[in-house]
Amino acid sequence: MSLYGRNLLTLMDFSKDEIKEMLDTAARLKYEKKNGISHEVLKGKNIVLLFEKDSTRTRCAFEVACHDLGMNPVYIGSSGSQMGKKESIKDTARVLGRMFDGIEYRGFSQSIVETLSAYSNVPVWNGLTNEFHPTQVLADLLTIQEEKGHLEGLKMVYFGDARYNMGNSLMVGASKMGMNFVACAPKELWPNKELVDKCEIFAKESNGSVKLTEDIDEAIEDADIVVTDVWVSMGEDDSVWEERIKLLKPYQVNSELMAKAKEDTIFLHCLPSFHNLETKIGMEVYKKFNENGLEVTEDVFEGPKSRVFDEAENRLHTIKAVMYLSLYKE
Ligand code: CP
Ligand code: NVA
Repeated sequence: MSLYGRNLLTLMDFSKDEIKEMLDTAARLKYEKKNGISHEVLKGKNIVLLFEKDSTRTRCAFEVACHDLGMNPVYIGSSGSQMGKKESIKDTARVLGRMFDGIEYRGFSQSIVETLSAYSNVPVWNGLTNEFHPTQVLADLLTIQEEKGHLEGLKMVYFGDARYNMGNSLMVGASKMGMNFVACAPKELWPNKELVDKCEIFAKESNGSVKLTEDIDEAIEDADIVVTDVWVSMGEDDSVWEERIKLLKPYQVNSELMAKAKEDTIFLHCLPSFHNLETKIGMEVYKKFNENGLEVTEDVFEGPKSRVFDEAENRLHTIKAVMYLSLYKE
């Protein structure tokens, strides 16, 4: 099996064994880094990081991973380049493909990463679109594997907006890997049927399952992993907060919910997270709606089941594995 030259646009494009190879490679690179074993095997290569939306983890993971592999990264933010303003994505892709060995993109529509990959002739890695966040889910899967020793048969429950990038990508990743995925959300925020149908096929192949429900008690029963994400994502209008809070408040991950979970259930969140008033937006929402802690409460976030910072660290190792597998020729 070779992932050389491959894009990572969504995990739908990969088999269970290929995803396993990414996770195994990440585990090896993590071990090597922690033991001072250098892996600068991509010396002389250059990659470009296109960020039309903000980022802490994804940008830092790509940059640090790039240096660890001996490559040079060039960062382009939401302003300062011609992309999308004076130059089409198609033209930008062809220019960047002449200069770089790989392209990371974070921004809006999934069609943008598809266009970049269609025209650049080099591997393209999706660092988050409205529809998918595949590098995040690789980090989540690695964290679960480290914690539980395996993925198959585990019940992963996602509480929150299940039709955006994280809900979609967790459903894809879990169904590919033989897990039992449950999206627990109000019907208005369920993933689209076409994607659910595809994931049901993946689950059938992997002996996993996919379920959508509004029933919180049924969802939390026997859950091995509880996951949530922000209720309003980057790029969405502030005006959606009021309705989103109304819809999702019952699905908040709080101590009452976690009390119904198992002793060894773990909590994951891709971060950033609104769990207290220490952020500008968290404070604004509190002043407007009197909610302290949104998708997850402070006690759960800081509590013994939370693995969110192990998960954040694993962004580095998994993103490094993805670039290594795309660019390293045996
Ligand atoms: N989880 C995640 O993608 O974080 P950033 O927005 O900080 O990259
Ligand atoms: N759903 C969130 C994920 C952030 C990593 C967003 O798109 O803002």
